[in-house]
Amino acid sequence: MTALNTPYTDTPLRQHFGDRRGEFQATNDTWTEKAPTKSKKTRYLVIGALILAILIGVGVALGVVLSKKNSSSSSSSSSVVNETDSNDPSSFEKDSRLKQSFYGIAYTPAGSQYPACGNSLDDVITDIQLLSQLTTRIRLYGADCNQSALVLEAIEQTKVNMSVVIANYPIATDDGAAYERQALVIEDALTTYGTLFAILQLRTDNIIGVTVGNEFILDYLDDNGATDPNSDVGNTGAEILLGFINDTKTMLSNMSISLQVGNADAGSYFNDLVLEDVDYGMANVHPWFANVSVDDAAGWTWLFFQDNDVELAESLSNNPSMSIAETGWPTNSTDAGNESNGPSTATEANLQTFLDTFVCQANANGTEYYFFEAFDEVWKLEEFGGVEGYWGLFYSNKTLKDITIPDCSS
Ligand SMILES: *[C@@H]1O[C@H](CO)[C@@H](O)[C@H](O)[C@H]1NC(C)=O
Ligand SMILES: *[C@@H]1O[C@H](CO)[C@@H](O)[C@H](O)[C@H]1NC(C)=O
Ligand SMILES: *[C@@H]1O[C@H](CO)[C@@H](O)[C@H](O)[C@H]1NC(C)=O
Ligand SMILES: *[C@@H]1O[C@H](CO)[C@@H](O)[C@H](O)[C@H]1NC(C)=O
Ligand SMILES: *[C@@H]1O[C@H](CO)[C@@H](O)[C@H](O)[C@H]1NC(C)=O
Ligand SMILES: *[C@@H]1O[C@H](CO)[C@@H](O)[C@H](O)[C@H]1NC(C)=O
Ligand SMILES: *[C@@H]1O[C@H](CO)[C@@H](O)[C@H](O)[C@H]1NC(C)=O
Ligand SMILES: *[C@@H]1O[C@H](CO)[C@@H](O)[C@H](O)[C@H]1NC(C)=O
Ligand SMILES: *[C@@H]1O[C@H](CO)[C@@H](O)[C@H](O)[C@H]1NC(C)=O
Ligand SMILES: *[C@@H]1O[C@H](CO)[C@@H](O)[C@H](O)[C@H]1NC(C)=O
Repeated sequence: MTALNTPYTDTPLRQHFGDRRGEFQATNDTWTEKAPTKSKKTRYLVIGALILAILIGVGVALGVVLSKKNSSSSSSSSSVVNETDSNDPSSFEKDSRLKQSFYGIAYTPAGSQYPACGNSLDDVITDIQLLSQLTTRIRLYGADCNQSALVLEAIEQTKVNMSVVIANYPIATDDGAAYERQALVIEDALTTYGTLFAILQLRTDNIIGVTVGNEFILDYLDDNGATDPNSDVGNTGAEILLGFINDTKTMLSNMSISLQVGNADAGSYFNDLVLEDVDYGMANVHPWFANVSVDDAAGWTWLFFQDNDVELAESLSNNPSMSIAETGWPTNSTDAGNESNGPSTATEANLQTFLDTFVCQANANGTEYYFFEAFDEVWKLEEFGGVEGYWGLFYSNKTLKDITIPDCSS
């Protein structure tokens, strides 16, 4: 395989997302109904009225629930993040091992796979307390299970300096069901967390952009036996994706929100028509999957990104800005066969080497990247095996791996 048609990608996510045709049920919950003109003020009034009704109706029950919630949140998070005031998520102790050295970090809250879900605001708050000590930017992959709102709420409560790339992770084979389901919750989150700026004008200062599509073209080509993103097959997939991108732009414009709209794909799988239609592209660049040795990994990643993505973007009329959407190094494998990529192994020592050779150097030369990733992901190791679940800076229990975080400003 030549560099240009090798995905160097982390996860065959289509195995997870591609096989649930018919599971989606349109929901009539008021929570997911489109309400583009609802202002934050209106929402607060509604929420206020609801809270008043609950207080009058079941005041005692509410008191019990709230006190339970507080005690469980302070005890469950005390091992990784200590809050000096258990009622105030913004009053947490900094961990001296963590340095705010990363341009950005890739993050998925645990329990955000539809339809299982199971994430929680308490957990996301702990994650944001930790991640805010490493970076000021995170990227999400999708919007299922309310993750955009949870992250924005956690940022508000922790009062940290954190911006987020929110995302819609559509699939090509479900007639837009996954796209639509996520578009509705994104719209709702933007309505709630946008700051009312002027009449009907929402400001979304800590939202970097909305990414539509994650490895969409790569998956489309794989599913249809093709490899060239700009082939007829690639363009057919692009047409589906362009429909979703168009819908997101229309949704934002309907809401009078001015936000960048982008796309993420494997670093050599961008379709030109897609990239020409977005403000930014985010490229997955994985030395591990390209069988590069860890000693060459940082330089290879940078060069691959320049040659395949930065140059492509410069050749397009809209000149989209490009970042590395994922790069990192795994530390473990479920099986011996996947422990090595040929020249190097999946170990914490090798993650350390990649951290030491990539992070501060990339900061210094202005490369925008989202380090892959925040936490080990249990669902991936269960579903895919191999190294898939073991890319975190932290284990899934939120303990820092045996690594030293580089110390440089981003
Ligand atoms: C939290 O506090 C406990 C008790 O003082 C201490 O042992 C632990 O190291 C602290 N954890 C962090 C992450 O600072
Ligand atoms: C917050 O982070 C951004 C970079 O994401 C930086 O430009 C800004 O100065 C930071 N703000 C504060 C108050 O530190
Ligand atoms: C989504 O999360 C936000 C922030 O925690 C919360 O206010 C809202 O009720 C949640 N929605 C659902 C349906 O869980
Ligand atoms: C979406 O597509 C329609 C039909 O092609 C077009 O008229 C419209 O301008 C597009 N909207 C955006 C925001 O690109
Ligand atoms: C945008 O607004 C138009 C006019 O109200 C409406 O027909 C359309 O469905 C809206 N589109 C989206 C994506 O919200
Ligand atoms: C990496 O090596 C494995 C086997 O060691 C092979 O299956 C795979 O195709 C190689 N990948 C690339 C991109 O060369
Ligand atoms: C930018 O940083 C990368 C590594 O992080 C390095 O490999 C590359 O040589 C640097 N490029 C320049 C032009 O300094
Ligand atoms: C490494 O992977 C093995 C097999 O999945 C697992 O049993 C072990 O707990 C993992 N170790 C760490 C530190 O994650
Ligand atoms: C690596 O793991 C995958 C499952 O994730 C498995 O299908 C494959 O056989 C493993 N490769 C090797 C070389 O053991
Ligand atoms: C977290 O997980 C790691 C890896 O499995 C383990 O070594 C460590 O003891 C765990 N920490 C806690 C506090 O459970």
